[in-house]
Amino acid sequence: MEYSEKVMDHFLNPRNVGEIPDPDGSGEFGNPVCGDMTHVYIKVEDGRITDIKFKTFGCGAAIATGSMITELAVGKTLDEALAITRDDVADALDGLPPVKLHCSNLAADALYAAIRDYQAKNKDS
Ligand code: FES
Repeated sequence: MEYSEKVMDHFLNPRNVGEIPDPDGSGEFGNPVCGDMTHVYIKVEDGRITDIKFKTFGCGAAIATGSMITELAVGKTLDEALAITRDDVADALDGLPPVKLHCSNLAADALYAAIRDYQAKNKDS
């Protein structure tokens, strides 16, 4: 299986790994295909994601997509971050092998879950 240089870089040197102890929003998503799971934690200020971290119990592609989505989402407004698609993540990594495309769902859907968690907690603000 051929991985791009970007996938290998983010797999071997993942960015923003870990937890935010007191997140404004957090979410997780499990992959029904393989049973793996990714968690995303966000800090939000003035409607923008100011900090984001992820943890995954997934394969190399799940690590790389988790890492890449943190880089794509940081600094974005919540609406801009919700507009990041699974394909955007795969494209930013110069593609994923077809059998690994399902792995990019983890990062994107965990990010959406974290944003929805934040929005549910801040409905009245
Ligand atoms: Fe489970 Fe990739 S095989 S996330």
